[in-house]
Amino acid sequence: MERFELAVKAITRAGAALRASRVKNGDVQFKTGYKDLVTYWDKYTEQLLRDEILTAFPNDVIVGEEYPPSGIGKLTWYIDPIDGTTNFVNQHRNYAVSIGCWDGDKPVFGLVLDVEREAMYWAKTNEGAWCNNTRLHVTQRTDLHDMLLTTPGVQYTFLDQNDWREQLIKLARTVRGVRCLGSVALELCEVASGEADLFVTLRSSPWDHNAARIILSEAGGAICTVTGASLSINEKSTVLAANSVENLNGVLSLLSD
Ligand code: IPD
Ligand code: CA
Ligand code: CA
Repeated sequence: MERFELAVKAITRAGAALRASRVKNGDVQFKTGYKDLVTYWDKYTEQLLRDEILTAFPNDVIVGEEYPPSGIGKLTWYIDPIDGTTNFVNQHRNYAVSIGCWDGDKPVFGLVLDVEREAMYWAKTNEGAWCNNTRLHVTQRTDLHDMLLTTPGVQYTFLDQNDWREQLIKLARTVRGVRCLGSVALELCEVASGEADLFVTLRSSPWDHNAARIILSEAGGAICTVTGASLSINEKSTVLAANSVENLNGVLSLLSD
């Protein structure tokens, strides 16, 4: 079985287990603090995905959120077993499983499963972006006043003290509206599918964005850091995304103004 087919099979299995799951008292723990949760199900899902991948491709590298990196090969799988754990715990919806496969710094494929909607966002390099069987395209909007901005963390994007706060508030005032779903992967897929035009976060890890960024660029979107630097494959970073390179540059100039 090829890597993509294996990934589809594994993520589908993980999604079914999560839909059937129920979070019990004692399943939820704090990681770095009370805003940073991990559950029994995050670990269960990452282990399930690791087992499936490593059984078929034992030398591949796995970089997942809940366990230390493993492997020695060139092909790397970036795994977020549950992106949107707070939503998983509170709502049992608006959370995703995210798998991005890279050959060094070259994107191979990305899968983001919106678990409860059973919506599989996927893309292979140079083969377009899809949600289940529907082709995805970013919006054609060019005027910031017409745009919807999405950000996964209202508190740390707009409320907490940070170097970008004033500029990001200016951006929020300029666009038509701001939305917060609470999942980096699903919000980048919203831009890919045309449900939003812009995305920003000040905190993202490789497992948060390395699958969805492939889907976004195959849908015609553009992505970088809030300073305009190219997004690293392996480092935590800020993320800015837009429906086109031109609009990304427009937002960058607004942020640096
Ligand atoms: C988090 C979610 C959240 C975002 C955080 C991420 P997790 O991932 O994507 O929306 O604001 O920065 O770490 O912890 O649910 O996998
Ligand atoms: Ca995440
Ligand atoms: Ca996670």
